[in-house]
Amino acid sequence: MEGIEGDYLEDIIQIQKIIDKSENFVFFTGAGISRESGIPTFRDKDGLWKKYDPAKLASHSAFISNPELVWDFFYSRQRLVCQAECNDAHTAIGRFENTRPENSHVITQNIDRLHQRGGSQNVIELHGNIFGMVCLACGKRKQYDYFDFFNNFSEEKIPTCPGCDNILKPDVVLFEEPLPQDAWIQAIRLSSECDIMFVIGTSLNVSPANTLPYHAVKNHAVLVEINPNVTEMTSLMDFSIRASASKILTKILCVA
Ligand code: APR
Repeated sequence: MEGIEGDYLEDIIQIQKIIDKSENFVFFTGAGISRESGIPTFRDKDGLWKKYDPAKLASHSAFISNPELVWDFFYSRQRLVCQAECNDAHTAIGRFENTRPENSHVITQNIDRLHQRGGSQNVIELHGNIFGMVCLACGKRKQYDYFDFFNNFSEEKIPTCPGCDNILKPDVVLFEEPLPQDAWIQAIRLSSECDIMFVIGTSLNVSPANTLPYHAVKNHAVLVEINPNVTEMTSLMDFSIRASASKILTKILCVA
């Protein structure tokens, strides 16, 4: 293998041997895995939080005080995700899950549902997803698909609840909001039971999601980080591969 893989050939061979001996797999992912699909990350130099203030666009108090501005931001992200395609990293994980449907799970911080488009079915969405809608007044929730979202909503106006006519919110976890309890409990259980955790495309800046690798370590799991940059937890990893997920995951998982 030439290029990036060449530099990490020894690591990749070791990881493949560990995969062969492992039973339970977790892919813990962040925005970086969708970057090659054209979805910006948050904290890279061209990331969303370098241009915009998350407190004004993606926090609970911003939604309450200025829902129009928050909806403008989310409508533009929904439009971008609708037009995006999943990339080789998403499809590599989807194919790998296909070989072990009971024992391979994705725990993602992403809200773009590109893992599902890449073939993954066992996906825990820690931060919800951008095509879900929830009414904060009556609690009514509805899930839409990316391909028909804009048949139901128009960017000209803020969506309202069909049940009580209050403003709907994208069913994502905004800053100042708690994670969905059931997703969080499942994420801890899967991380505590896995034999190997791939930590892909996340700066590990945001808690409590960034505590999941510790649960894996407590179970003596092997940690494999895939990220072009060093992160706050690189020193915790058994392997840390400085590469783009879409370029190297197919090789590591042998799912070409
Ligand atoms: N392949 C793998 N990793 C990549 C790639 C790539 N092609 N491109 C960038 N990355 C890495 C960056 O180096 C960075 O470490 O992806 C990471 C993205 O980090 P963040 O932008 O902080 O995104 P994330 O970790 O997912 O943020 C977590 O913060 O704002 C909240 O809710 C938001 O879910 C998000 C959470």
